[in-house]
Amino acid sequence: MSVSSSTASVFAGQRVVVMGGSSGIGEAAATAFVADGAEVVVTGRNQDRLDAAVARIGGKTVGHRMDAADQGAIDTFFAQSGTIDHLVVGVTGAAGAGPFAQLDLKDLAVGFDAKFWPQVRIVQTALPHLRQDGSVTLITASSARAAFPGTAGLAALNGALEAMVPPLAVELAPLRINAVSPGVIDTPWWDRVPAEQRQALFDGLAATTPVGRVGRPEDVARAVHMLAANGFITGVVLDCTGGANLATGR
Ligand SMILES: NC(=O)c1ccc[n+]([C@@H]2O[C@H](COP(=O)([O-])OP(=O)(O)OC[C@H]3O[C@@H](n4cnc5c(N)ncnc54)[C@H](OP(=O)(O)O)[C@@H]3O)[C@@H](O)[C@H]2O)c1
Repeated sequence: MSVSSSTASVFAGQRVVVMGGSSGIGEAAATAFVADGAEVVVTGRNQDRLDAAVARIGGKTVGHRMDAADQGAIDTFFAQSGTIDHLVVGVTGAAGAGPFAQLDLKDLAVGFDAKFWPQVRIVQTALPHLRQDGSVTLITASSARAAFPGTAGLAALNGALEAMVPPLAVELAPLRINAVSPGVIDTPWWDRVPAEQRQALFDGLAATTPVGRVGRPEDVARAVHMLAANGFITGVVLDCTGGANLATGR
């Protein structure tokens, strides 16, 4: 995906790492960076998915298989990474959703272990390897600040990440720290929901979303690309929801 011809090669000669880049939003972000001249490393746990994504993304893309829940694997990755200009962190899990009264707190802890702790560990471990005035973009979720029943756990873990963005932007400056907070995006993450049920869910959400559809990975990739490219934006959590999170005045 080329964001615009006027920004072509804005990342020429730059190294971008997309943690969780073998699918969905991460893959689309990697594609956007490659289209603008970057050398990109994408990570994921599954080698076949990784190989397929590297082939789809093309350009100067390298795949690195690793489990971002494993601190040892994170250490090993950054020990050989060289200097990174821009880091995007999208690793995730699926645990932690459900009605609060029945929510298994062990399941919520699994959700934190799959997303909150890996994202925090990755950023902390990456620091000595990031260009001083480079950027970090976290992929969080609009559930952090929405009020959908059944999402209190997801709100907690994504809200915890989003809360870290402003203080880190000040503490780690001139490194820039931002997040993109997506609404519902049609990615392979949703493959766990049966196709018919998923389509019904997407149709229902599209009907109540101002832009009239659910998101595409490219929508979020454009936001990630912009935050990395714009050297005057830091400390921002950028909603990318098609307006689904706007207050309705009810
Ligand atoms: N899709 C949505 O509706 C939506 C909404 C709000 C927020 N988000 C957030 O957006 C981000 C990207 O989600 P997505 O929808 O693009 O999901 P996705 O299509 O499932 O992609 C997730 C990527 O992360 C990798 N990954 C997951 N756990 C990992 C781990 N422990 N170590 C290394 N890589 C790991 C996956 O590869 P492997 O599985 O092979 O490891 C894959 O490349 C996530 O943080 C998600 O929470 C998504």
